[in-house]
Amino acid sequence: MGIGQLLQQLPKPASKRGRRPRKARERVVSHQQAKIIDLSTALPPCPQFLREALSQSLVELALEPELHWRIRKNRPGGEDRDREAGARWIAPRVGEILPSSRILLTNGTQNALVVVLRNLCKPGDVIVAEQLAYLLIRPIAVSLGLIVVGVEMDEEGVNPAALDVIGRAIRPKLLYCTPTVQNPTTAIMSADRRADVVRIAKTHNIAIIEDDVLGRLHKEAPPSLYSYAPDITWYIMSVSKCFAMGIRLAYLAIPEGIRAADVFAPHLRSSSMFANSLSCELVSHWVKGGHGAEIAEKARSEVDARQKLALQHLGQFGPRAVPGGLHLWIELPANVSSDSVVKAALASGVQIRSAGMFSVDHKPPPNAIRVAITGPQNHAGLDAGLSVVANLLSEHLAETAQRKVQIS
Ligand SMILES: Cc1ncc(COP(=O)(O)O)c(C=O)c1O
Repeated sequence: MGIGQLLQQLPKPASKRGRRPRKARERVVSHQQAKIIDLSTALPPCPQFLREALSQSLVELALEPELHWRIRKNRPGGEDRDREAGARWIAPRVGEILPSSRILLTNGTQNALVVVLRNLCKPGDVIVAEQLAYLLIRPIAVSLGLIVVGVEMDEEGVNPAALDVIGRAIRPKLLYCTPTVQNPTTAIMSADRRADVVRIAKTHNIAIIEDDVLGRLHKEAPPSLYSYAPDITWYIMSVSKCFAMGIRLAYLAIPEGIRAADVFAPHLRSSSMFANSLSCELVSHWVKGGHGAEIAEKARSEVDARQKLALQHLGQFGPRAVPGGLHLWIELPANVSSDSVVKAALASGVQIRSAGMFSVDHKPPPNAIRVAITGPQNHAGLDAGLSVVANLLSEHLAETAQRKVQIS
């Protein structure tokens, strides 16, 4: 059977067949039904094209006569052809097509973090992360016996002066940061800020782990930290936000002068330390055939459309939102507690996150909420969730304004 015949047998997209009437679909996303609308998880945007690319590529891969040979063995760090695909995928962010010997494939960012932290640190070492950061960095580091210290941030992310003080006082081993669309604050480091952070890291002999998970969705960002300091930076780009979390694949670019074999040697006996072969095959196929860039482009358009909708609802509350960002960040006045807004939202059927969830140490978090916009499957679901959050914020703000009037 040829590809054409196989493709014909695939189910037609929902837009053409088997779609439920509009009213029924709207009822499913209504928050009045006990269903929770998830505005807490920043899932990948999932454009319709992803389905088409997935169907087509899986059929094409299935017809490859050598596939079963290729996936039958362990590939610590990935096969050469997959590393080459990775080098091409991250090239727009690192400024060049790196030699495949500098690229390793891992089962997502979490796996890459374990690999790098195990390489650079020993139990008892101190690492630095943005004061609010990807909520798994702390549990991963703690599970390896490391101590995490938060570095202050401003509107551009890591504050270099604060990093300098920590560098002098504590001599940390490394800095973990997300310079492009920081999670959760959406901060983006300017080119000058990137240069400053790298300069201070070098002064204090601090290695950098750069998490560039949204780098392909936010095209306007200055080049990666890796391109400023390839000698000290470990660069990670997962496909979790651009394609799909379930693929479990991240590209890890290692610093100049490090041998890929040395990075993986300590992990060879732990079972998950090579990336899922079928995922590698699929993503390499997308990168080489051009589907990858097209999915990213369409994902970005979907995020833009969702952001417009989100700003219609929440623009009045002064959110921070940037192109390609999968969430909005809203700082609240001191008298409106973020925790109580999160609680009230959940009681009304919508899940959002409060700043405290992202704290990497025990310092008090700012009074802010994160509203993710890509969780609901369609715009109607997002619209319903956003209107709940907007109404709650209006009510809370009105209440505090009233209290102020009564006091004065
Ligand atoms: C900052 C950041 N990096 C990376 C990831 C993705 O992690 P993984 O590649 O392990 O799915 C996430 C997902 O939530 C994230 O927020």
